[in-house]
Amino acid sequence: MAAVIGLGAAIGVAQDKEAIIKERRDTMKRQGDDFKAIADFIKGEGGVDQATALAKAQDLLTIAPKIPSLFPAGTSLADFPGKTGAKPDIWKEPDKFKAVIPVLEGEEHKLVDAIKSGDKAAIGAQLGATGKNGCGACHTPFREKLT
Ligand code: HEC
Repeated sequence: MAAVIGLGAAIGVAQDKEAIIKERRDTMKRQGDDFKAIADFIKGEGGVDQATALAKAQDLLTIAPKIPSLFPAGTSLADFPGKTGAKPDIWKEPDKFKAVIPVLEGEEHKLVDAIKSGDKAAIGAQLGATGKNGCGACHTPFREKLT
């Protein structure tokens, strides 16, 4: 009986972990959607106006501080192959992983300022910098692309 209860608990934990993997992938996709909307504003596509682009940049700033909490132990690609692209190095070098967050936030604050200015060349340059120095600084060492 105890073994059965223990197994049930283990399955429950696995489901919690899969739920958080889904939540983090959805959150990452939301950041990607925010990026796309800002890029559409720059190109004058998709009917995205300046206020919407600004709201998307502010959405990025609300997401950034939550990112580390989406990576509990035991949710790497070694634990859930094919379901997550989170490399085990995230948990081996947690300080390096978390250090990206303030850099990302700094770039996103500059992105908000650029969008407020309305200068599309400046917004484009800052969107690129945010992707490279923020998102990319974490993806390059810590993310494996899922096929
Ligand atoms: C501190 C690390 C970190 C930062 C910062 C970060 N990401 Fe990610 N991102 C990851 C990891 C790790 C994965 C893989 C997650 C998984 O598969 O569970 C990922 C996955 C993704 C995915 C793929 C989601 C999917 O499953 O299809 C997108 C899109 C994405 N990130 C966009 C962004 C954007 C845009 C930014 C910047 C605004 C960003 N990320 C910032 C670590 C980060």
